[in-house]
Amino acid sequence: MSRMLVWVLGAGGLLGSHLKGALAQDAQNIQVWDTGLTGIPWREPAAAAQELTVRVARFAREARHGDRTWSVLWCAGAGVIGSHFEDLAGESAYFIRLLEQLGRELPDLPGKVLLASSAGGVYGNCPDHPLTETSACSPISDYGLNKLRQERLLFEWAQAHPNVSTLTARISNLYGPGQNLGKAQGLIAHISRSLLHRAPVRIYVPLDTLRDYLFADDCARHLLVCLKRLGTPVRENLLKIFHSGETTTIAGLIAAFARIAKGHPRIICSADTARLQQPLRLQFKSTVWPELPAPARTDLAVGIQRVHSHHLALFQQGLLPPLAL
Ligand SMILES: NC(=O)c1ccc[n+]([C@@H]2O[C@H](COP(=O)([O-])OP(=O)(O)OC[C@H]3O[C@@H](n4cnc5c(N)ncnc54)[C@H](OP(=O)(O)O)[C@@H]3O)[C@@H](O)[C@H]2O)c1
Repeated sequence: MSRMLVWVLGAGGLLGSHLKGALAQDAQNIQVWDTGLTGIPWREPAAAAQELTVRVARFAREARHGDRTWSVLWCAGAGVIGSHFEDLAGESAYFIRLLEQLGRELPDLPGKVLLASSAGGVYGNCPDHPLTETSACSPISDYGLNKLRQERLLFEWAQAHPNVSTLTARISNLYGPGQNLGKAQGLIAHISRSLLHRAPVRIYVPLDTLRDYLFADDCARHLLVCLKRLGTPVRENLLKIFHSGETTTIAGLIAAFARIAKGHPRIICSADTARLQQPLRLQFKSTVWPELPAPARTDLAVGIQRVHSHHLALFQQGLLPPLAL
């Protein structure tokens, strides 16, 4: 089997960092592409687009060197539910630039592209319970609409690039050590941080809102299993939901924290227009590739404990950012 050269975009983020960790454990078959010390200047659109172009050319040169296949994993994106349409469109523009350049630089060498999409975002208010890959997409936020647009862009691009297999990963709610604390995403990280700073937890959706929380490391490992399986023996464009199978309400999360941190978080429930973009119930069941070994499942209580311990260590070093009031 030829060795796969893998480029993770968004490698400093929650998903990207855990994916890099999982990839590094399979050094015999996988080489993680070293992008160098400097990051992509995401906040400067012209410079970031230019940097993407340069990087694709460098990546292509390295992929062509030796008997290798290539994979590009798009785990980038700062958007969340509530993000402005223009910001989300800017992220998609980066994704389009990436695909265009890949098509130009690697038109023949077999490769794979993974897109980290959002299950909650694209299914929105679809009434199915559980939601499966055959459920209808019904986004209710610009974030969800933008993810769906990226999925379609990738699908259309793939039709013109028969050397590439694609995996669209519709991911449930990720959590784990390393969550971006500057982002309005990640309720588990938010509750944990509020507890340590003795600040109230602000919640703007109903306490019976049901979510599937997926530990980032479990997600990364299962993505890797699927990435290896993808395109064998024939090229394919696959769409799959990544979820934990364990759903809980927000009230259930708060109770779990009360047990772990031995204290009840103070809760402030407030209305916010963003709540209209949040589906009440999200429960998933993937029916794609049922024959794959069952993915690792970190128990929610154990995962919450890991996040909280990680935050506690940061807090004790004075490195846990306070919450914006
Ligand atoms: N977190 C979730 O619950 C969840 C659920 C489903 C899907 N997703 C999707 O999965 C992907 C990764 O999520 P995450 O939670 O790991 O995100 P994250 O921790 O915020 O990391 C995202 C990465 O995106 C890059 N980035 C920053 N600003 C950007 C911009 N303006 N445009 C494009 N990229 C930018 C950065 O990459 P560098 O490290 O290169 O600077 C950053 O580390 C995102 O597309 C997200 O929408 C997330």
